[in-house]
Amino acid sequence: GGQDDLRIDYVYKVVVIGDSAVGKSQILSRFAKNEFSFDSKSTIGVEFQTRTVSINSKVIKAQIWDTAGQERYRAVTSAYYRGALGAMLVYDITKRQTFDHVARWVHELRAHADSSIVIMLIGNKADLVDQRAVDTEDALEFAKEQGLFFSETSALSGENVEAAFFKVLEEIF
Ligand code: GTP
Ligand code: MG
Repeated sequence: GGQDDLRIDYVYKVVVIGDSAVGKSQILSRFAKNEFSFDSKSTIGVEFQTRTVSINSKVIKAQIWDTAGQERYRAVTSAYYRGALGAMLVYDITKRQTFDHVARWVHELRAHADSSIVIMLIGNKADLVDQRAVDTEDALEFAKEQGLFFSETSALSGENVEAAFFKVLEEIF
């Protein structure tokens, strides 16, 4: 459609998944708009945000899909994963249970997404160091076993958010 589209070389679909309240929507807002909100509402259904970036002098439009961590609010799984080239699998470093559920999310990805999908495991809320409940080493080991990239981020401070998205987009490229 619009004039901007003329300059886009590739559109990459990336999905964000993980338990409710781990910060999926805020990581996405940080990446797409450089914004953060403390009173973020739980996502219902599917939301999208986009950001256009340049990688190796090609213009890439990242189309990032965000859905609810809560089962009852989630979008239809097969449609959500269809065509996804990348996935950000998010847990909260202060909530052990959200890390314990990561294996379940990997299983869902393997069942519904393309086998070549690039997956980034993200331990979010890294700013809450005093409340840490998941060791970095444990997450790193899990990521290695499963063949995932791994990063700890803070949507609040912005730490590593951009780097994590760029890593995934570069790997897709
Ligand atoms: P659902 O949509 O229900 O699946 O949740 P979600 O994973 O999208 O979580 P959301 O982004 O709405 O964030 C949940 C809460 O955590 C909000 O109060 C955010 O402000 C807060 N939050 C998100 N990221 C961070 C972070 O990096 N640090 C801190 N301290 N709080 C965060
Ligand atoms: Mg959300």
